[in-house]
Amino acid sequence: MSNRPDEATGTGPTGEELRKALATFPTGIAVVTTFLGAEPIGATANAVTGLSLDPPLILACLDRRSRTLNAIEASGRFGVNGLAAEHESLARSFSDPESRETRWKGLDWEESHGSPRLKQVPLWVGCSLHDLVEGGDHLIAIGAVEEIEGRDADPLIYHGGDYHGLR
Ligand SMILES: Cc1cc2nc3c(=O)[nH]c(=O)nc-3n(C[C@H](O)[C@H](O)[C@H](O)COP(=O)(O)O)c2cc1C
Repeated sequence: MSNRPDEATGTGPTGEELRKALATFPTGIAVVTTFLGAEPIGATANAVTGLSLDPPLILACLDRRSRTLNAIEASGRFGVNGLAAEHESLARSFSDPESRETRWKGLDWEESHGSPRLKQVPLWVGCSLHDLVEGGDHLIAIGAVEEIEGRDADPLIYHGGDYHGLR
């Protein structure tokens, strides 16, 4: 296999090279949410996908330094809010470390299956934490799906380092 990191020599692609390469691969965008006590917590994430149908499992890869990940470890629950094209400002505020204290201000949300659900977004998946798996500087949070609600919408796409609509 080419481009395989060689641990012995330290050669092979860097994390930055991987980040740049993956920027050519379009993804959807979600806000992953949970509670820290009574406080709603959440972060923008594109490393979110379905994992298993039987049983129904999804996964979110979260940075070990993420406050949201730490809260998920404590609460044992999380939700995935899939964003529509019109929700670019949500994606930006939930990824800006400077806006941690203000992210939830003025947002329409409710508690659903033990996690905060953003009411305006087209996809909601509520989960209990099934497993946390090591993944380098991230952990893979695997959720056992307990609730799904979705409607058709123009999805928010992340590609080439920027946000796009599909339609
Ligand atoms: C487009 C985009 C996608 C992101 N995807 C992820 C992701 O999948 N996992 C992750 O841990 N952080 C991801 N981030 C970074 C987090 O959103 C960011 O670090 C956030 O401030 C974390 O908030 P928290 O520490 O309050 O949890 C992404 C950021 C952007 C702009």
